[in-house]
Amino acid sequence: MIYYFSGTHNSRYAAMRLGSLTGEDVKFIPDSDPYTQTIDPNKDKSIGLVFPVYAWGVPPVVIDFIKHLPESFAAGIDSSSTYVWCVSTCGDETGMAIEMLRKTLFKKGIRLSAAWSLIMPNVYVLLPGFGTDPKDIEEKKLQEAVGKIESIAEKIKSKAEENDVHRGPFPRLKTSLVYPLFKKWGVNTKQWHYADSCIGCGKCAKACPVGNISMINGHPQWGSDCTSCCACYHVCPNHSAQYGNITKNMGQYKSPIQEI
Ligand SMILES: Cc1cc2nc3c(=O)[nH]c(=O)nc-3n(C[C@H](O)[C@H](O)[C@H](O)COP(=O)(O)O)c2cc1C
Repeated sequence: MIYYFSGTHNSRYAAMRLGSLTGEDVKFIPDSDPYTQTIDPNKDKSIGLVFPVYAWGVPPVVIDFIKHLPESFAAGIDSSSTYVWCVSTCGDETGMAIEMLRKTLFKKGIRLSAAWSLIMPNVYVLLPGFGTDPKDIEEKKLQEAVGKIESIAEKIKSKAEENDVHRGPFPRLKTSLVYPLFKKWGVNTKQWHYADSCIGCGKCAKACPVGNISMINGHPQWGSDCTSCCACYHVCPNHSAQYGNITKNMGQYKSPIQEI
């Protein structure tokens, strides 16, 4: 089984490819009730988690999912034979995100056997100084990801114990300082608004992985459960989904596998 979270489809692409290359079923975390997840020790010999790095950490939605898995789930995992792995997609570097995941799993009695980071196009646009990659870098990252996913799939199939993660410089400092700030102040949902160019197509509402956008009188209205994934911003055909004044001049990213 592969559980994944994704806003702008990079991690979705990785999870789907890994699913088809390894023969594992794939489940989207926001659609999966953690309390009802089960493990069949005779059948489920591998469990994967695929998610983007957020602020050098693990998206809170992924942490919450793991925390709410039932005791019977962890009890069904045979640490000598169940292979637990993760792939975290990132624009550049993971910081201590994998260690954060490892600790969260460990507290549930689950041992992480292998971890890989996968560099993919950058999507974070909610702070000045960040933004999407130039198109040539975006294409290069996507091309390189194809081969890396294939090699990760081979390693998953052979149950390799590996930790191939690009933490980047000062990982502890970044994760311990920035992640708590991100969790507390990372997104001010009141900053989300639509510009006059909004045509009311509803793509933003469809793209939101947590159903936080309602279409009211033909225009989007953001609720208070934003995960900061930026899916609504990137999917908008008119660059109308905006965050304060910050995103006005930012670029947009569309994953080659995005259907909406
Ligand atoms: C809220 C947020 C925080 C991010 N923080 C980081 C980060 O700390 N390091 C990094 O390399 N990329 C960071 N990124 C970029 C994403 O990890 C990367 O683009 C990822 O592939 C997006 O995955 P998705 O398309 O599956 O949502 C961040 C993106 C978002 C939306």
